[in-house]
Order: sequence, then C-alpha cells, then structure tokens
Amino acid sequence: MGKPRVYVTRIIPDAGLDLIREYCDAIIWQDELPPPREVLLRETRDADGLVSLLTDRIDGELLDACPRLRVVSNMAVGFDNINIPEASERGVLAGNTPGVLTETTADFAFALLMAAARRIVEGVDYVRAGKWRTWGPMLLMGADVHHATLGLVGLGRIGAEMAKRARGFDMRVLYYDVMRREDLESSLHLEYAPLDMVLANADFVSVHTPLTPETHHLMNGERFEQMKPSAILINTSRGPVVDTEALVVALQKGEIAGAALDVTEPEPLPADHPLVAMPNCIVVPHIASASSITRGKMAEIAARNLIAGLNGEALPCGLNNDVVGKGRNAMPRDWQLFTPEAE
Ligand code: DGY
Repeated sequence: MGKPRVYVTRIIPDAGLDLIREYCDAIIWQDELPPPREVLLRETRDADGLVSLLTDRIDGELLDACPRLRVVSNMAVGFDNINIPEASERGVLAGNTPGVLTETTADFAFALLMAAARRIVEGVDYVRAGKWRTWGPMLLMGADVHHATLGLVGLGRIGAEMAKRARGFDMRVLYYDVMRREDLESSLHLEYAPLDMVLANADFVSVHTPLTPETHHLMNGERFEQMKPSAILINTSRGPVVDTEALVVALQKGEIAGAALDVTEPEPLPADHPLVAMPNCIVVPHIASASSITRGKMAEIAARNLIAGLNGEALPCGLNNDVVGKGRNAMPRDWQLFTPEAE
C-alpha cells in the first residue's frame, strides 16, 4: 500500500511539514509566492489532499479539476478563500486552524493600536532620516491610549482577547457584533452598542469580523463619517472588510485621524498606493499571527486536519465534518494511515 499524495502550496513550519512528510507523498511548492493558478490546478490534479493558504482560491473549478481530492486543509483561521458549500457538495472535507493564533493576533492588533496612537513608525523614520536634533516640546505628539475608548467591531475570539488587553490600559470598551455576547459583557467589562454608536464614541476602532458577503466593505465612507475625526482604525481581520478607496478619502479629508492595517484590499498593497505614503497610516504585510510558536502550531493543526481527512475521519478543526463518509470522502483508499498521537 502506498502513501496518499498531497500538495502543499508553500513551505510551512516543520511542526506541520515533518508530519506531512512522514505520512504522505508530499509535493511542496518551494517559491516565496503562491503557485500560479494553472500550477495549482495541474499539481493538485492527482492529489488526495491539499494544504492551502489564504492566498489559494479553492473553488468548484479546482475541486472538479482534482477528482481524487478528499481533504483541503487551510493553514489559517480565516477560510474565505475556500468555497465550503462547493467542497461539501463533493464530499471534500475542509479544515482551518482556529484558537492557536487568537492571543498572538490580539497582541499584534494592540501593538498596531499603540504604534498608531503614539506615532512610533513616524518616530523611527524621523531618527533614520537624521532629523533628530533636540528634544522637542511639540515633537510627534500623539493620542493617549490609557483611559481612551476602544470600539470593537466583531466580538469573536480575537475581539474578546483585544478587550482583555484594553482593560490593562483602563480603556472603556464598546463592542458591536451581530450576536450580542451578554455572557462576556460583565467578565470583560464590555458595553454593547449598535455599530453607529460604537463608531461615534470610539477613539480606536478595531475590526475583528470574518470576511463574508455581509461584512464586505462594512467599513465604508458612511462609516468613516460616523467616526470621530480624532479616531484611529485598526484592521487585523481581512482587507475587504474595509473599503480601501473610501479609507484613502477619509484620511485625506481628515474624517478620521489615522489607520493601522495588517490586511488590505488588494493584498499585497502596491508600494506606490496612496495609503503606503501617508504618515498617519501604518501598513504591514499580514503578519498578525506571525510568531514562531503560533505559526508552528498552525502548521501542526493543518497537518493533523489533513491526515484525519485522508483517514476518512472528522477533522480536529473541521469546517464541514458532516461530509465524513459521503461523496469523495467515502471513495476507497489505496493507503493505510495511522493517526499520529497528539502531544
Ligand atoms: C488567518 O489565520 O486567517 C490569518 O489571517 C493569518 O494567520
């Protein structure tokens, strides 16, 4: 009996890759950039499993081009790059990597908030440009974080961790979510408010929603007008939740004071994009979950999801485990896998 064939669309940390190599015949795309679409379609044609990243579009076309594919394991918590109904329809299991990146991402969102409030990037640029000649009583004055009001748009796992961090800075925390979380309000000292009220009262607005048709361009021109002119927007969720062009206008017109973005639309944002040049906008390359430990854990979960799917078992972090034993997932296997012990 041979091993299952899998395609991995980038080099991922060894914690995942070692497991994948042990149990599977793996082809691993070596480039820094994602495989071009035609390469992904060609390389996955005979694959039983696929480890994808948020840069790979997994849709009906791909699933049809790869008739043996029975599991898609995304190394990310977000899975807006995968068409889950199309996968389920064909009996293809899909998984993601929730939980392990929650605190790391919240740490980073709070770091962005502080960097934007206290103009840290501008300060670094100032020193690097040789402009630092003396202590200046008016130099690079920013906004206080302590005792300010944080507005959370979305109160999932990462939003809730952000609230905990804000508490340490004696911030007032308002939140809006489609699902009110009364269970968390007293333990995390949160106040629920409709979105326009959150925006109107917050000094910092931090976005923590998944990307869905409902949240696409949720933060648009009208929303920026509702914010305080002194407010700062932080986005560590998905780029398209914010309307980029409307954000450029809002920053140019002074409708809001600043922005700090880990995610953008488009992604990557071209170096000559107006947001990149604006001193009151920080743009970083989608690195909120990028601590060595967290990325290792994400890779390991992705590998365990993949192996479970190849075994025909429910994925530890499955998005459609109801398809176990159905469609492609029920096809006979010409390999014998053993599930590795969890440490
Ligand atoms: C995710 O996991 O969805 C992040 O955007 C990348 O870690």
